[in-house]
Amino acid sequence: MNRCTIPRTARVASLLGMAILLAATAAWAGAGYVGTETCLECHDDIGASMAANRHGRLADYQYPTDVHGCETCHGPGEKHAEDEDPALIMKPSSEMGAMADTACLECHKTGVTLDWLMGSHADADVSCVSCHGIHGGQLLVKEQTELCLGCHTDYRARMNLPSHHPVKEHFMACTDCHDVHGGGYAGLMTGETSRELCLECHTQHRGPFIFEHSPVEDDCMICHDPHGTVANNLLVQNEPFLCLQCHQPHFHSGLMSYDGDYDIPAANYNDSGSSMYEGWSGTSHPDSFKQTMLTKCSQCHQSIHGTDLPSQSIPGQGRALNR
Ligand code: HEC
Ligand code: HEC
Ligand code: HEC
Ligand code: HEC
Ligand code: HEC
Ligand code: HEC
Ligand code: HEC
Ligand code: HEC
Ligand code: HEC
Ligand code: HEC
Repeated sequence: MNRCTIPRTARVASLLGMAILLAATAAWAGAGYVGTETCLECHDDIGASMAANRHGRLADYQYPTDVHGCETCHGPGEKHAEDEDPALIMKPSSEMGAMADTACLECHKTGVTLDWLMGSHADADVSCVSCHGIHGGQLLVKEQTELCLGCHTDYRARMNLPSHHPVKEHFMACTDCHDVHGGGYAGLMTGETSRELCLECHTQHRGPFIFEHSPVEDDCMICHDPHGTVANNLLVQNEPFLCLQCHQPHFHSGLMSYDGDYDIPAANYNDSGSSMYEGWSGTSHPDSFKQTMLTKCSQCHQSIHGTDLPSQSIPGQGRALNR
């Protein structure tokens, strides 16, 4: 868990300060409450649209204070109801930005927004009403993927790369992997680590396996990028280059990757005491470069995520992840 509360505590303190400041200076200061009936005399259209949604149908016990209806979010409306002056009523999204969230959080203390103030959306002053519509029947102001991509524009291109999770096809959503209301996890992830997150759905790769592949045990993101890649299978790089970042090419094919004669230098075997390659020499094959650089390693090493079956080993220890 990556919970860091210090900057957020400061943030909460500053919000409280703002609340006191605004209460003292706002245009509607000193106004009384008039009740929803009065508002609806002029705003019957909004009353009608709200009748269809959750906030329009709250029961008395769901309110934290005696103030009910429109004024729970818009503040006391007496002055505005008399003057009809839009400046005399609070409009959460425009006037106060993140301050609006305090109105929402009065009621949404628990549930999905329990950890809201610890998340990076709150940190970046993204307000509830940037994403949520209040008066219509819609939960969100836009279809979800469009909503997210509207701000996270760089992810639009990535989601369109040849290999991608089926988000734009609407089989998945960003929120399958991200908790936008901010749990305590880095990157607003729904899992504690990216590995745990991936394994929630791709359970076949969880193991434990008798023959493990260390990077897979460590972090799926070493080889995959869930937002989209040019290479197949969401791989950050094509094989064999992906594997060659950590592994040497196979001894024989690597050695023969030029066209000509070769001898194995004595130093290569004498030092290690192995006489296995003693006296090896020959003519390299023109195709050996292709064999090293243009073959997918996973053609032979099929169980790259780990396996319980020993490999059909030649000289090795049977852990070559090839079946
Ligand atoms: C006597 C009529 C009348 C009453 C009563 C009334 N309003 Fe209004 N309200 C208006 C008018 C007129 C506007 C400006 C409309 C516009 O700009 O389209 C307005 C605008 C608003 C706005 C938008 C403010 C802005 O900055 O754009 C909000 C929010 C609002 N009213 C809420 C309320 C609430 C809540 C109540 C009840 C407490 C209420 N109104 C009662 C007439 C009224
Ligand atoms: C749960 C909080 C909440 C409640 C309850 C609520 N509003 Fe709003 N209202 C908002 C927010 C937030 C906005 C800003 C527009 C937006 O982002 O959707 C808004 C905007 C408005 C506007 C400006 C026009 C518009 O649609 O942008 C009017 C008028 C208004 N509200 C009237 C009302 C009336 C009348 C009621 C009671 C029937 C009411 N509101 C109840 C949160 C609320
Ligand atoms: C008076 C208390 C109260 C206030 C203030 C309030 N809510 Fe709610 N809201 C509720 C209740 C109760 C529910 C229904 C139970 C639930 O889903 O938690 C609800 C439901 C919701 C839902 C889910 C709607 C759905 O269709 O499933 C959203 C989104 C939401 N509120 C956002 C907001 C936002 C954004 C604000 C601030 C502008 C806000 N609420 C202010 C009490 C409130
Ligand atoms: C960055 C966009 C975004 C912001 C900001 C945001 N939400 Fe949400 N919210 C969503 C999405 C998306 C869902 C639907 C989640 C899903 O489908 O799993 C949602 C769902 C909800 C629900 C319904 C949960 C349920 O399953 O019943 C509530 C309640 C809610 N949000 C309240 C809030 C409140 C209160 C705030 C501000 C403190 C807020 N949200 C800020 C995007 C947002
Ligand atoms: C109104 C603009 C806006 C919308 C809409 C929005 N975000 Fe964000 N989001 C931000 C900002 C600003 C940040 C913080 C700066 C950053 O890391 O880019 C952020 C941060 C994030 C992060 C990174 C968290 C971190 O700690 O690095 C994730 C993940 C994220 N948002 C996912 C989503 C998802 C999923 C949605 C759609 C449900 C969404 N956002 C909708 C503006 C938005
Ligand atoms: C299959 C799971 C998955 C899906 C679907 C997904 N993400 Fe992510 N996202 C991740 C993981 C894992 C990270 C890495 C988090 C980390 O490294 O801390 C991440 C990181 C991010 C970040 C933060 C990057 C940073 O700088 O830390 C943003 C922003 C983001 N995703 C936005 C989105 C958006 C927008 C969508 C939908 C269009 C989306 N993601 C869909 C898994 C996913
Ligand atoms: C919410 C479930 C879910 C989560 C979480 C998830 N995936 Fe997926 N993944 C899918 C689905 C659905 C597909 C598409 C399967 C298909 O097309 O048959 C997929 C496909 C893939 C593919 C194959 C892509 C291709 O081009 O065929 C890879 C690789 C992959 N995911 C890796 C990851 C990694 C790495 C993570 C963690 C960051 C992750 N997934 C998290 C559901 C998920
Ligand atoms: C060492 C690099 C590497 C790591 C780390 C890695 N993968 Fe893979 N993954 C691959 C390769 C290579 C392929 C393509 C295999 C093929 O073409 O047969 C693949 C394919 C996949 C696929 C699609 C095909 C299938 O087997 O279903 C999924 C899903 C997947 N990986 C999930 C994961 C998950 C989950 C993790 C973390 C637990 C992970 N990968 C870690 C290299 C890796
Ligand atoms: C991030 C570095 C990294 C990447 C990328 C990587 N590996 Fe590995 N691989 C390792 C480590 C570390 C081991 C464990 C070595 C050991 O135990 O001696 C290992 C072990 C292996 C083994 C078993 C060998 C043995 O003696 O246990 C094979 C086979 C293997 N990797 C093939 C691949 C293939 C094929 C790819 C590309 C799809 C790949 N690796 C990508 C780091 C990596
Ligand atoms: C033509 C099939 C084939 C291809 C292609 C292939 N390998 Fe192998 N690899 C093997 C065999 C067979 C073994 C030996 C198995 C044993 O000894 O148990 C092996 C062993 C290994 C080992 C363990 C070496 C050791 O010393 O035990 C690693 C690491 C490895 N390969 C990585 C790779 C990488 C990286 C690639 C891609 C550049 C690759 N392999 C391509 C068949 C192949």
